[in-house]
Amino acid sequence: MHKEFLWGSATASYQCEGAWNEDGRVESMWDRYLHEHHLENGDIASDFYHHYKEDIKLMKAGGQNAYRFSLSWPRIISDREGTINPLGIDFYNRVIDCCLENGITPFVTIYHWDLPQYWQETGGWLDHNVCEAYDHYAKVCFDNFGDRVNYWATFNEPKWCLVNGYLIGNYPPGEHDVQHTMNAAYNMMFASALAVRTFRQGNYQGKIGIVHSYTPVDGVDDTIQTQIAVRNADNYSNNWVLDTAALGEFPMDLVTRLSQDYDISLMKPEELKIIKDNTVDFLGLNYYARSLVKPYTHGETQLQFNNTGKPGSTKIVLKDWFEQVMDPKSEFTEWDTEIYPRGLYDGLKKAYAKYDLPIYVTENGVGVREDVSVPKVHDDWRISYMNDHINAIMNAVDDGCDIRGYFAWSTMDLYSWKNGVEKRYGLVAVDFDHHLERRPKASYDWFKKVADSNGDAIKRQAY
Ligand code: NOJ
Repeated sequence: MHKEFLWGSATASYQCEGAWNEDGRVESMWDRYLHEHHLENGDIASDFYHHYKEDIKLMKAGGQNAYRFSLSWPRIISDREGTINPLGIDFYNRVIDCCLENGITPFVTIYHWDLPQYWQETGGWLDHNVCEAYDHYAKVCFDNFGDRVNYWATFNEPKWCLVNGYLIGNYPPGEHDVQHTMNAAYNMMFASALAVRTFRQGNYQGKIGIVHSYTPVDGVDDTIQTQIAVRNADNYSNNWVLDTAALGEFPMDLVTRLSQDYDISLMKPEELKIIKDNTVDFLGLNYYARSLVKPYTHGETQLQFNNTGKPGSTKIVLKDWFEQVMDPKSEFTEWDTEIYPRGLYDGLKKAYAKYDLPIYVTENGVGVREDVSVPKVHDDWRISYMNDHINAIMNAVDDGCDIRGYFAWSTMDLYSWKNGVEKRYGLVAVDFDHHLERRPKASYDWFKKVADSNGDAIKRQAY
């Protein structure tokens, strides 16, 4: 791999920090939602807020040269007027400095789902004013950390947080409304372009991109009907984020189609011009699975979601788009996620050919229930999962794709949203029952060998 390839791991503020009400951090939409519904929450999570030095040292000892993490808007900006919380700034200064002292490159996501509750009060991502507020928050981040950060991502996974929040309804704000999903999506993509503009106007060092939950789409066959279903699924799963961020345009056929049933008056020409003029420098792609689709059969699109790890997926319905199928030949996790490394290779090739931008694989990993009471977790399954996915990346690099980094999800076990702490992805086990003790798993040792050898330790398989 290229000698400057980033071999790192990733977390998100709400999932790891804890300290939810310390040092001036205000409430986020997730705090309010989880507290109100009496659900397992991230009040403490992995307590990175108090363990960050230990965690960053572990990254270094594990051979990692980069750390992808997110900043918490409610920790940095205290109110709707944009007041800065100096203690929030201090915390991230300490984290960034600690990374640099340990030879770890910080890769910073500005927003990873933890909207301040004071914005949720007036509709959250449905309130157009949130775009300007986000832009202000992003500028505060660039001004305070921009001298030491070279990699910025405006948003983490607009699709996943908005589809869950506004279409399926199992993430805050818990809605089930296509029009609202569209409006929130528009606002988030516009806010992203505003932050890119601010970044460029301020002449900050480094590069700015966006992180997308990438779901490459395959059809069950090659008929015209299936190709239409594939295009619909690709628009739904990928294009509205990637085309908009990288090419500066929402996919025209998607907009035309939606305009037949929904109101698109939010899309103002002067704002579309800002989107057009402020495309990203790189793409961050999170890869967990592809999507296999066939044409709709009953006038309905059924999408399967399993956010609980329990039998029976949540289904949502869109009118006449496509239908998702589970490949009977594939292996699936307990959470119904298909294990399909080849999809990463195919997806990287497609994305690089289409967008011609540097790509970072900003998340990849596997979530399972694990007994971490043992001295060493032997997560051989995770090792083979990661090996096969990194092999897929190396094959794409061999074919000429410009891929510059790989981040394992996750650095350590985290609070995994609606799955609580039960679904573990970490390279390092966190004993949530015993003082949050950290114990590197076998995958951590294995990943060190991979990073130290710049990929040579990967068992290769050509496609
Ligand atoms: C995507 C998200 O960015 C992250 O927050 C989540 O926990 C992981 N993938 C695993 O589902």
